[in-house]
Amino acid sequence: MPELAYLNGTIMPIENAAVPVEDRGYNFGDAVYEYVASYNGRLFYLEPHLDRLEHSMAALAFPPLPREKIRTAIETLFAEAAIDRAGIYIQISRGVAPRDHAFPADAELQFLMILRRVHEKPAVLRDKGAAAITVTDIRWGRCDIKTVQLLPNVLAKQQALEAGAYDAIFVAETGEVREGTSSNLFIIKDQSLITHPLTQRILPGITRMIILDICKAAGLSVEEAYFDKAALYAADEVFMSGTITEVLPITRIDDKPIGDGAVGPVTRRLNRDLLDRIGG
Ligand SMILES: Cc1ncc(COP(=O)(O)O)c(C=O)c1O
Repeated sequence: MPELAYLNGTIMPIENAAVPVEDRGYNFGDAVYEYVASYNGRLFYLEPHLDRLEHSMAALAFPPLPREKIRTAIETLFAEAAIDRAGIYIQISRGVAPRDHAFPADAELQFLMILRRVHEKPAVLRDKGAAAITVTDIRWGRCDIKTVQLLPNVLAKQQALEAGAYDAIFVAETGEVREGTSSNLFIIKDQSLITHPLTQRILPGITRMIILDICKAAGLSVEEAYFDKAALYAADEVFMSGTITEVLPITRIDDKPIGDGAVGPVTRRLNRDLLDRIGG
């Protein structure tokens, strides 16, 4: 059950995988990515991840790569590794070419995957909730495209850690609360959920979509609407959502408790419902 890499059709040990120095992902951040996880030997919501990858590639005008080819490559790598609880990082760059901003005429897409075991988040984060800080959103205007250009996310996460928090929440200069550095964000007020609408300013999270679906099935009220920092601080409950994040309660923001500072009932319920889907 080895952790493995895949590079343009070949599966190999991760330490053997290397890309040329003129890969455009490396030179320009000209690459898109996905991250898919498995539970109990089954890839979770693979098709929506493939949809999003197609959206990202089309948005950057990459030449088409058949979906079937991508799916088969992922499934082959997953079968070969035979790790029940795996995370597969998938990165596709525009290819390798002498450094020039313009698209190369004849480069071929570079298709890289890294499959590793998932290390679960500490149980205490889920039981007691995590702390977050807010930071100004300095990202570019197309956060709906999952590109490897993640420097603002990297800097914000580090700033959070150095402040003794778990993560950072991006807040636009115009006041809208967007999302975490690698997760979407929900607030709950008077039993109703609110999350940022799907625009070019946030990533359309697969977990976000699943949570909206769970809420619909459970008859919980959800609004996809803008909210500001005052609403964030005044929320009864706050949680982040993401593939490894799952449903993660946020109980302190900028050193202020959210609600009574404990994990709230709606967050607990949604976490349970998500685990049910994972189990099923
Ligand atoms: C900026 C950002 N928002 C949201 C998410 C959550 O997306 P998903 O639920 O598909 O993992 C991620 C995941 O990587 C992310 O990087």
